[in-house]
Amino acid sequence: MSDDWKIDVSARIRSLPPYLFGRLNAMLLEKRRSGVDVIDLGMGNPTDPTPKEVVEKLCESARDGRTHRYSKSIGIYNLRREVARLYERVYGVTLDPNKEVVATIGSKEGFSHMCLALLGSGDTAIVGDPYFPIHVYGVALAGANVINVPLGNDEAFLDRVGYVTQHLYPRPKCLILNYPHNPTAMTVDGVDFFDRVVALAKRDGIMVFHDFAYGRTCFDGYKAPSFLQAKGAKDVGVEFLTMSKPYNMAGWRIGFCVGNSEMVRALATIKGYYDYGIFTPIQVASIIAMREGEEMVARQAKLYQARRDVVVEGCRKLGWQADSPRASMFVWARISDEHLAGQGSIDFSLRMLEEAEVVLAPGRAFGENGENCVRIALVEKEMRLKQAFRQLDRALNKGIKAPSATRQQRKQQKQ
Ligand SMILES: Cc1ncc(COP(=O)(O)O)c(C=O)c1O
Repeated sequence: MSDDWKIDVSARIRSLPPYLFGRLNAMLLEKRRSGVDVIDLGMGNPTDPTPKEVVEKLCESARDGRTHRYSKSIGIYNLRREVARLYERVYGVTLDPNKEVVATIGSKEGFSHMCLALLGSGDTAIVGDPYFPIHVYGVALAGANVINVPLGNDEAFLDRVGYVTQHLYPRPKCLILNYPHNPTAMTVDGVDFFDRVVALAKRDGIMVFHDFAYGRTCFDGYKAPSFLQAKGAKDVGVEFLTMSKPYNMAGWRIGFCVGNSEMVRALATIKGYYDYGIFTPIQVASIIAMREGEEMVARQAKLYQARRDVVVEGCRKLGWQADSPRASMFVWARISDEHLAGQGSIDFSLRMLEEAEVVLAPGRAFGENGENCVRIALVEKEMRLKQAFRQLDRALNKGIKAPSATRQQRKQQKQ
């Protein structure tokens, strides 16, 4: 072997956009290692536990030796039937569990493999900017191109999308949507929006992927509409959902893709090659969660709603512009020019980690239109969120470094 031999990664890996959370994550790790109690509001990783009944069902099922084999890559029938029942109950949408539902290893896996199943070299997908990163990475990993359109939730946004679908050649192949949206928490008022999406998709012959991860995390009586409630939606698209957010099952890795049977079949085909399915007890426990977890879904949304109020108030007191979202687990805030002090959101977030010991996700990591904003995840209890804003306020408004007790010091204080 020659001395200059080195691993040569694929063009696929090289095509990925730069990972803009890298420096922030490295600095967070370093701080934590040195014992600093950083308040991490960066990632939308639920911190509340999975409901007890669901965990118990998992254990019961895991004790049954018959569940230890490879499962079905599309998910066991009873699980897919439960998803269909949930759609009928919550959205009035009828799904065929055999043709229109497939279980995925979290919605992220489902989305990524759907890109691989339906997109390839020479294809283009339209994604609103700001965007959830996998909506761009998934397309890039499939070898296809992304066209970003400034995000919106109204006629003007659909006009921008329509302009692209009418003028780009070859025609874009799909439109990627996500309402309630991550990172902006943007929502749509009702099914009418999706009716217009379906009309546009049919007019221009494009597919629709709707990421509905926050569909059940709604506040103040708002009910996020499902894309599949739109007439004819199943002719043109699919929807991705997850157990991660409504049931606090993020680590369990389970979600679903539902809708157009040909698209679902294409995803199932890819998955059939790549995986043997989710551990059966996880699937069994998920049935119980969906069947008996309505109260839990509402309780968890209430928790996020109360945290939202703390965060929106905290942002406004700092002089940042933040709308109060009616869904998702994030607050999206525009930082004041005074606080940005000429920095971009990435440098600003690094400065807040250094000076306030609080992690805020920089808006720029979600696309060009996210610049000057931060995303704040509602993953800490109200008291700690208030503490985070006190630390931000001290760091920003007095130029004094937030006094952070190390874990060791806190322990000693408690004793
Ligand atoms: C919009 C959106 N889609 C998908 C996911 C991934 O969800 P899952 O855990 O089901 O893969 C997330 C997670 O944060 C998300 O915010």
